[in-house]
Amino acid sequence: MNLLTKQLEEILSPAIEKVSPEGRDKLIIQFTRDASLGNIQCNSAMALAKSLKQNPRKVAEEIVAAIPSSPLIESIEIAGPGFINFRLTRKGLLAYLSEIGSSDLFPGQDENKKVIIDYSSPNIAKRMHIGHLRSTIIGDSIKRMYRYMGYSVIGDNHIGDWGTQFGKLMVAYRSWLDKENYKTSPIEELERLYVKFEQVSADKPELLDEARHELKKLQDGDETNVALWKEFIDVSLQEYDTIYSRMDITFDTYRGESFYHSSMPGVVEELKSKGIARESEGALVVFFDESEHLHPCIVQKGDGAFLYATSDLACIQQRMKEYHVDRLVYVTDDRQIPHFNQVFRISDLLGWEVEKIHVPFGIMKFTEGNFSSRKGNVIYLAHLLDEAEKRAFEIVTEKNPSLPEEERTEIARVVGRGAVKYFDLSQNRSSNIIFDWDKVLSFEGNTSPYLQYVYARIQSIIRKSGLDEISLPDLLPSDISETEDKLIHTMIQFPNVIIQAAAGYKPNLISDYIFELSQSFNYFYNSHQILKEAEDIKLFRLYLCRQTAVIIKTGLDLLGIQVLERM
Ligand code: ARG
Repeated sequence: MNLLTKQLEEILSPAIEKVSPEGRDKLIIQFTRDASLGNIQCNSAMALAKSLKQNPRKVAEEIVAAIPSSPLIESIEIAGPGFINFRLTRKGLLAYLSEIGSSDLFPGQDENKKVIIDYSSPNIAKRMHIGHLRSTIIGDSIKRMYRYMGYSVIGDNHIGDWGTQFGKLMVAYRSWLDKENYKTSPIEELERLYVKFEQVSADKPELLDEARHELKKLQDGDETNVALWKEFIDVSLQEYDTIYSRMDITFDTYRGESFYHSSMPGVVEELKSKGIARESEGALVVFFDESEHLHPCIVQKGDGAFLYATSDLACIQQRMKEYHVDRLVYVTDDRQIPHFNQVFRISDLLGWEVEKIHVPFGIMKFTEGNFSSRKGNVIYLAHLLDEAEKRAFEIVTEKNPSLPEEERTEIARVVGRGAVKYFDLSQNRSSNIIFDWDKVLSFEGNTSPYLQYVYARIQSIIRKSGLDEISLPDLLPSDISETEDKLIHTMIQFPNVIIQAAAGYKPNLISDYIFELSQSFNYFYNSHQILKEAEDIKLFRLYLCRQTAVIIKTGLDLLGIQVLERM
């Protein structure tokens, strides 16, 4: 089946064109805000009237007269200055509703287009902290949405595994390693070594030369240094993977910056030969046209070293060659906007044809300011998840003391990590977030525990009905209440919400929507009986319950959050 709005467009478009050929690009339809006005609103008459210099209500009348009768349309009304409101037939609405939850509603949504999502991407040898949360879960949600819509998606963790920190770590490791600590908490020990190096080298600058020397050896393939470097990566990834698995996050590839090391000289050659980069004070630099408002971008330093931008260029080239990718999506905080502007522009100058999207997000802060490991006010992701699960366990135990401990622990795991993810995903991506323990751990209002709870409650109603399967009943009740109409009206918008959220890379549109749906469901549930009603009404209401649950589950899944059958 086609999207409902598409179906309407197909009916409306010939009618509008009949009124004026200009109408072709003026087809504007949307869901009505309020189900009492109908389901779909068309705003084309106003736009068309402007260019035809006619009265919009009259244009609306002409459009309406040209619309053929359709089994989908119950009635049409012209409202206000010329809005055309369509009330859809119950049969049409319910047939559509029964398709919701199946991804077949997205035919032609750029099917088979290949997208790579670059997300999480922590720098090696540092523990994952709250600063890594947003890229990880926003990227994961974007990946889920695009996959759901039928794109072919690769999730890539572009880890920072190449850079000056390795020379320093090698010197520090050989001088001050605490073997015991390295065994029990390897990354913590690497962090300690790094900090120590920074402190000691402040008074002993010769250490910096030593570090540079070790880095050079690593880059030239020195066996011992390469082995140690690999070990740093291994221990880091082991720890990251524990966190990813606790958060239900997966990747298809883990290609760090080092993967592109050998192709950077080729990119630099191409930049030189095409006259895009030129020498300046010993370095190789791309200068942009003044109108582009971009700072010059160094692609190779005087000592031959390549830079972050160079590795991202090599990475784009590789992804195009290897995957014939159509779109590249990068999820990082907004401090990297200038970096991606430069890299994308250089890629265009090189004539590389691929769509590139940077999805920036605001950073997470404390009320007192930024996180900083130096100030010791960093929150590690492991700790954040521990706290959320602990809090969830307490609440579950309070509500359900009779459940076996094992089950309570499992519920707490799902609820805890859901709360952490939802706290982040439900906020406008572009804004900075003030980290607040009480908000992260809140289980009421627009939070995932609340939504999970609505889902579990529906499952319990369904269990109580004793029916194994619930589908749209053949015999519908003769009367459907306004509240039920409103619930149906909210439900049918779900596919369009997914499309909008994906197009804008905005998971919060999905969370807002599921929250609204849950409220609409609660209103229905609190004002209607279900199981005690006559058979036709009971079956119909159970069906509404089931479809609500399907949407909550699908929506939360797109945010990377699981549901529970009971809580
Ligand atoms: N490792 C980088 C950082 O922590 C993020 C990498 C983002 N991806 C990319 N292709 N540049 O800042």
